[in-house]
Amino acid sequence: MGRLDGKIAVVTGAGRGIGREIALLMASEGAKVVVNDLGGATDGTGGGTIAQEVADEIVAAGGEAAANTQSVATVEGGASLLATAVESFGGMDILVNNAGILRDKSIFNMEESDWDAVLAVHLKGHYCCSRPFAKYLRETGRTGCRIINFSSVSGLFGNFGQANYGAAKAGIAGFSRVLSIELAKYGCTVNTISPGALTRMTIPLRDARGEETTQQDLDTGGPQHIAPVVAWLCTDEAAGISNQIIHCASGLVGIMQQPAIIKSFRKPDQGLWTLDDLDDYMPQLVEARQANVDAAQQSSAAVEIA
Ligand SMILES: NC(=O)c1ccc[n+]([C@@H]2O[C@H](COP(=O)([O-])OP(=O)(O)OC[C@H]3O[C@@H](n4cnc5c(N)ncnc54)[C@H](O)[C@@H]3O)[C@@H](O)[C@H]2O)c1
Repeated sequence: MGRLDGKIAVVTGAGRGIGREIALLMASEGAKVVVNDLGGATDGTGGGTIAQEVADEIVAAGGEAAANTQSVATVEGGASLLATAVESFGGMDILVNNAGILRDKSIFNMEESDWDAVLAVHLKGHYCCSRPFAKYLRETGRTGCRIINFSSVSGLFGNFGQANYGAAKAGIAGFSRVLSIELAKYGCTVNTISPGALTRMTIPLRDARGEETTQQDLDTGGPQHIAPVVAWLCTDEAAGISNQIIHCASGLVGIMQQPAIIKSFRKPDQGLWTLDDLDDYMPQLVEARQANVDAAQQSSAAVEIA
């Protein structure tokens, strides 16, 4: 018996990398999978038929899959995912918004086209794919549904040369928080993944540093390490878990902080703050934030398990 028996899942960007591993694992756990992928280059240009190859691989292994090669960056493409799932398998229970591209440049060199392309695939892509699914589950009363979104430390912590990607990935974390609130009454959980994996997105960064990527590196840090966490969040056992950001990479699974007010001061009778007041109190706020960061750094040290 599989942990996802009877579920119908759509995984975007599942032709390679993290998405492919998620699609394969979900299918091996009994899900019927729509394998979406445009099949283009890392910068989003071009196309290809890798979605069909992964779907064929699933079917050859005894599973059920259908390919979809539409772009997640358009409203039509997003709607086509639901249509493929309904036409091929009769419904949809799970959406994994994993598709992504990169156009890394510092702000000095980032053209409008680099900004627009990255925001379109990541942030708008999450909207394009999630909206038809959200409307569908509200209209059909389908319960136990799941949305898994893909953020990144690039947006959650910040990373040089990725203003477009970081903005999109931070936006996805905000999008997920709102969606988890809006879909709670329909029994659909919405969680966010912050992954770290050696794929064609990240291996070139190692190449640029002159670091070789060995098979052992791929075994210990490949995209297969992300798939179990995503699949688990889609099981019935994860029904009570929503609005979380889960970080996973290389045998590690952790949970991220969400934005929260750490410390605050109030003037008597809701009085107006003066600039001189702020000279005194702003450093205390910054200090409180640093103490919070230090505490999180201590508690986040990974605990080895058996
Ligand atoms: N690899 C990492 O360490 C890492 C870190 C943080 C976040 N992420 C995120 O994880 C997700 C998967 O990344 P990956 O490392 O597997 O990258 P990848 O390049 O190996 O896979 C991404 C896939 O998305 C597909 N895709 C791109 N644009 C598309 C579109 N418009 N429509 C449909 N498919 C499209 C690509 O063809 C590709 O197969 C991405 O959202 C990425 O931003 C990855």
